[in-house]
Amino acid sequence: MPNRVAEKLLKRIESRQATVGVIGLGYVGLPLAIEFAKAGFPVIGFDLDERKVRKVNAGQGYIKHIPSACVQEISKRKNCHATGDFRELRRADCIIICVPTPLTRQREPDMTYIVNTTNTIAQYVRRGQLVILESTTYPGTTREIVQPPLEASGLKAGRDFFLAFSPEREDPGNPKYSTSSIPKVVGGVTRDCLKLAQSLYNAVVVRTVSVSSPDAAEATKLLENIFRCVNIALVNELKQVFERMGINVWEVIEAAKSKPFGFMPFYPGPGLGGHCIPIDPFYLTWKAREYEIPTRFIELAGEINTAMPEYVITRLAGSLNRMKKSLNGARILLLGVAYKKDVDDMRESPSLRLMELLQDQGAVVEYHDPFIPILPPTRKYRYRLRSVPLTPAKVKAADVVLIATDHSDINYRLLGKYARLIVDTRNAMLRAGRTKAPVIQA
Ligand SMILES: NC(=O)c1ccc[n+]([C@@H]2O[C@H](COP(=O)([O-])OP(=O)(O)OC[C@H]3O[C@@H](n4cnc5c(N)ncnc54)[C@H](O)[C@@H]3O)[C@@H](O)[C@H]2O)c1
Repeated sequence: MPNRVAEKLLKRIESRQATVGVIGLGYVGLPLAIEFAKAGFPVIGFDLDERKVRKVNAGQGYIKHIPSACVQEISKRKNCHATGDFRELRRADCIIICVPTPLTRQREPDMTYIVNTTNTIAQYVRRGQLVILESTTYPGTTREIVQPPLEASGLKAGRDFFLAFSPEREDPGNPKYSTSSIPKVVGGVTRDCLKLAQSLYNAVVVRTVSVSSPDAAEATKLLENIFRCVNIALVNELKQVFERMGINVWEVIEAAKSKPFGFMPFYPGPGLGGHCIPIDPFYLTWKAREYEIPTRFIELAGEINTAMPEYVITRLAGSLNRMKKSLNGARILLLGVAYKKDVDDMRESPSLRLMELLQDQGAVVEYHDPFIPILPPTRKYRYRLRSVPLTPAKVKAADVVLIATDHSDINYRLLGKYARLIVDTRNAMLRAGRTKAPVIQA
């Protein structure tokens, strides 16, 4: 039986009177805040980035696949807005944390965003609030990192306030699934915590799946991403083996896909990118050390995936060599710096490493990406480059066109007609049909 504090909050959630605070209005937090606004909840979006706060309040989009019309679901409603003033946390009945969880330079979990956010919430936490962490992280984070500072207020999780973990499963740019159509896994510190978190999400997502603890929910997200990371590494390795054997890995995957059970296709590429797959598995590796268990699959997959840009450049240099040209001085047109097709996100993109390797060997690199007109600086790279237009003249002028991202909007026929040599890491040239230009898979 829920305690009285929980019962009161449950009623507020069920009647959609509960104010939902979403901390971090990025790829995960913004669509979530929009869903709660659409469902009729009062919503307060919090972000340190003043530009995002301004844009949300002005009803302007800043993420490619989330148009302004969607952002206006927040700005046009009287009881919804964004702010950088965290004192407003006190007004929120439910607080959902969607802040980044990157790796440090030593490839260890960088918990500063979660720690800072928790410390901020701890200043304002009050009886009857529900706090949910969504950021991807290692098992134990909710109990070990979030719970103690909140309880330092004297309030107790499960009795006075409620605490849960529910991993985000966004797949930006995937037209088939959106925030509301993806089931959500939820684990609460107590049964009341679980019940409240489930009732909140049930208002905006197709279905919730409960697990016995926040730790199990944290582990579920890591299993999902490790599964992808390991399987991508497997096809990346097979690609290299098959290439030596004169077998096209794409043809093999296509054929294997016809098996109606026991197989799921994963595709090779120039390396891993994005905020999740290259990073999250190492959160588990780090935590597993505490238990003296090595995570060999994760380490091996990381090794293979990280080495893919080198493999691509070796293939590219070998192809130039056969044309009696060197990489030194070669003009390379790199297609796509987003980490995957049709998104405007270049975090951890393998294209950045490809550029570095090419420039290190004396190549002159230009890039084209319809979604990334200017390459912003990252923690590691500071390129001063702008996307060049994809014209016949640009394509003709390049010694090699290197396809790193298979955006749908690229005119692949134009490449096939004018390029001197194409190195294709995504099997993108399949769409161009027969081409004049030689195409090397890498
Ligand atoms: N992007 C994805 O597709 C995806 C998918 C599943 C899970 N995740 C996970 O979700 C989490 C968030 O990822 P994201 O892609 O939305 O990140 P993001 O960088 O797009 O957004 C995070 C936002 O949090 C803000 N922020 C940082 N510190 C803050 C603080 N102390 N207070 C308020 N705001 C703060 C930033 O300004 C930024 O706007 C990460 O743990 C990530 O691993 C992301």
